[in-house]
Amino acid sequence: MIKRAPVSSPRLTNKIALFLFASATALLATYVFWSFSGDVKALLEHRMGANPSPSAGTIVNIVKLLLVGIVGYLFVRALNFIFFALAFRLKRIDAPTLIRNIFTIVAFTVLFLIAFTFLFPEVNLGALFTTSAIFGVILGLALQDTLGNFFAGISLQADRPFQVGDVITVGAQRHTGVVEEISWRAIKIRTFTNHVVLIANSNAAREPIEVCPRDNLNARLVFFNTLYTDSPAKTIHVVREAVREADNVSERVAPIVRIRNLGDNGVDYEVKYWLDDYAKYNDTDALIRQRIWYAFRRAGLNFAYPTRTLFVERRRGAEVRDGDGSAIAERLSAVDIFAPLSADEITVLAQAAVSHIFAPSETVIRAGDPGSSMFVVHKGRVRVQVSENGRARTVATLNEGDFFGEMALFTGEPRTANVLALEETEVLEIGHAAMKRVFDTNPDLVESLSFIMAERRQGLASQTDSPATTQDSSGILSSIKRFFGLHQ
Ligand code: CMP
Repeated sequence: MIKRAPVSSPRLTNKIALFLFASATALLATYVFWSFSGDVKALLEHRMGANPSPSAGTIVNIVKLLLVGIVGYLFVRALNFIFFALAFRLKRIDAPTLIRNIFTIVAFTVLFLIAFTFLFPEVNLGALFTTSAIFGVILGLALQDTLGNFFAGISLQADRPFQVGDVITVGAQRHTGVVEEISWRAIKIRTFTNHVVLIANSNAAREPIEVCPRDNLNARLVFFNTLYTDSPAKTIHVVREAVREADNVSERVAPIVRIRNLGDNGVDYEVKYWLDDYAKYNDTDALIRQRIWYAFRRAGLNFAYPTRTLFVERRRGAEVRDGDGSAIAERLSAVDIFAPLSADEITVLAQAAVSHIFAPSETVIRAGDPGSSMFVVHKGRVRVQVSENGRARTVATLNEGDFFGEMALFTGEPRTANVLALEETEVLEIGHAAMKRVFDTNPDLVESLSFIMAERRQGLASQTDSPATTQDSSGILSSIKRFFGLHQ
């Protein structure tokens, strides 16, 4: 939350009272001086002797001009107030400061020139301005910056690239803050440390300005990282849900969580989110980091920090596997076709199984590829798809404990379908050699497998016109036996 510094001007009624008092005093002083100007002039002439320079009349007129100038200034202020503060407000328009300033300057100059020509009719103002080259040069040099700011301010008002309330970042020094005022001289911004920065209009016109408009859906990026052991699908889900709930995160666009880099210490992510009120982005970024920390804690995810991990390889090749071997044995024993196997046989199979993890939508098996292994879904779900007239058609969805890929393994034919992970999915791959060992001791297994395969082939046959898919279970049984060199 940005706290505004208290404004030190008196309240409106006090201001009006002060203004009325000043006006009354100025008017009275002008009236009195005007009434006694003849006497003052005579007194001055008497005191100053003959042919003084400047003459008494000129001095009196200069004082008159000063007094009229003061009254004129107060009159212009009053006009400004009536016109902009009252008339514009009635129409619910907030006049920009620059316009008010221009109005004041023009009105005052006009009044001043009228008074001047009235009091000094002998002075030709036009000639004075046009003939005095030195005056022009001095004025030009003195007003160089001021005029530059003034015209840059006018072009800013005309362009309206930003407005009061927008967050802007200006120039090489990257001053960032909320725009509070655009005057004829400078842009006033309040930084997020509650400092006021004034940027001259002419500088702002030359510098690049990054604008985050108040009524625009502005986005921010927040970065974090995880250990390589933490799953991306889980991390993305956990963080997206945590960020979504945070205050000031727009509900209009869902936050995006994505991997930026596979870094030295871990996986680097970014969260892109959109804010309701961009001026509060510091607080919202902080809140999001806090939410991520808590969400990580609950989900068992870990932030990465500079580490060196030393892996000592004890086993080789296919035997190296993440996780607990007993969980894999438990999973395999729950698969229907492995029900007849003894605990020892399951353990042998579990030791030979290799675990693979797939991201949502990743392909596990591609139709037409050669294959010499089958898979059991350990965690997650997969979809079996065939291509029909170039369009993917789903044949089956397989859940934890289901198996696939057996057709190519048991017949030596190419894969009959595509299998895709539906969510983050872990599968256990069992190769030809391990299955042959199991078949040698359990010939019945071949039979139950051939039934399932025949059923699946029928399912495929109803989706495609391939003649290879219409073999019955006895045909499959004998081809498996032949392929594995088992007794017929
Ligand atoms: P395979 O041909 O090796 O590779 C694709 C796999 O998809 C296939 O083995 C089967 O395991 C599986 N599959 C094919 N058709 C079906 C079906 N109708 N129901 C379930 N799984 C199937």
